[in-house]
Amino acid sequence: MLRLVTKRSFSTTSRVLTTATSKPLTKAGDGFASAIGNTPLIRLANISKSTGRNIYAKAEFMNPGGSVKDRPALYIIRKAEELGLLKPGGTIVEGTAGNTGIALAHLARSLGYNCIAYMPDNLVKSKLEIMEMLGAQVFRVPVVAADDPLHFNNRAKAHAESIENGVWANQFNNLANRESHIETTGPEIWEQLDGKVDGFACGLGSGGTWGGNTAYLKSKNPNLKSYVIEPPGSVVVSYFNSGFKSFVKEGSSFVEGVGAQGRVNDNVMQDIKLADGAFLVQDTESIAMLYRLIDEEGLYLGGSSALNVVAATKVAEKLPEGSNVVTILPDSAHKYSTRFFSKSWLKEKNVWDAIPDNLKKYAALD
Ligand SMILES: Cc1ncc(COP(=O)(O)O)c(C=O)c1O
Repeated sequence: MLRLVTKRSFSTTSRVLTTATSKPLTKAGDGFASAIGNTPLIRLANISKSTGRNIYAKAEFMNPGGSVKDRPALYIIRKAEELGLLKPGGTIVEGTAGNTGIALAHLARSLGYNCIAYMPDNLVKSKLEIMEMLGAQVFRVPVVAADDPLHFNNRAKAHAESIENGVWANQFNNLANRESHIETTGPEIWEQLDGKVDGFACGLGSGGTWGGNTAYLKSKNPNLKSYVIEPPGSVVVSYFNSGFKSFVKEGSSFVEGVGAQGRVNDNVMQDIKLADGAFLVQDTESIAMLYRLIDEEGLYLGGSSALNVVAATKVAEKLPEGSNVVTILPDSAHKYSTRFFSKSWLKEKNVWDAIPDNLKKYAALD
């Protein structure tokens, strides 16, 4: 149970403090998979105060593999097992921005499978290293167009087809991805807020998180507003805003895990018509929020989490005061620390000036 108290005697600031008192414990579970899900829903106390609406953030970085992708990875494996596509000792192959690969690598070790991942070579190396440390075989490949046979995802498919007892996880088109959120994340959010959910927004990578949660939450509250969010360089926002006729790919972003697919995949197509709007969040906004989340909320988060909180605050402004808007915190900052907290990297990416002067102190690396 969470108790809100106002900070008084030991500081002159009027920050809201959230004190954790006793929290109901879940019973012991069996293996890695049993620790997935049931993540906390955090009311961002100070950010909520400044918007006049309640911004709630689902702490998916607290999954045992450290990201929101533990949920779909487990569902994808279970579905492959059920369909007889994956047998003991088999190999799971995936094209991944990193977190799905990490989730699959954990689950593969725990359940007795092998894991092979293909990832684009512009992403942080720490994700590759984590996968390797978990026993996965990782191929870092050049960035090419989504329809190129050498695209990381197409290479993963071809690799799975070339081996015995191998399965391509195919998170982009495998609907077990979206189902994991319909059956777990969405119901958790609904229960955690006693059904009082007015808005939802988050960035799309495969789209499973946005689509699954939107489908579930709208089935419970048809008046809920849900927004599609992407960083520059992505196509789903332009696809939605063109009335589903066409899309353009403009610009680029350093926020990992969301956007940049260059196509509208099956998980997105299932639910895109449920969207109430779509907009881009710029990297300058995401990085400023990343630092604000440290300063005001004590949360050390990845770029897509910051992007999501920017989106939630913008959606909150469209809704009446006191509304509850939910977003997702897909992963923490640990994997990205050499980028997001390095002064020279931030300057090279032209986002140093986007960080308010009083928050620049958090950029602890040269
Ligand atoms: C850090 C991060 N944020 C957001 C996402 C997007 O989630 P989804 O694939 O469900 O759209 C991912 C997906 O890999 C991710 O790794």
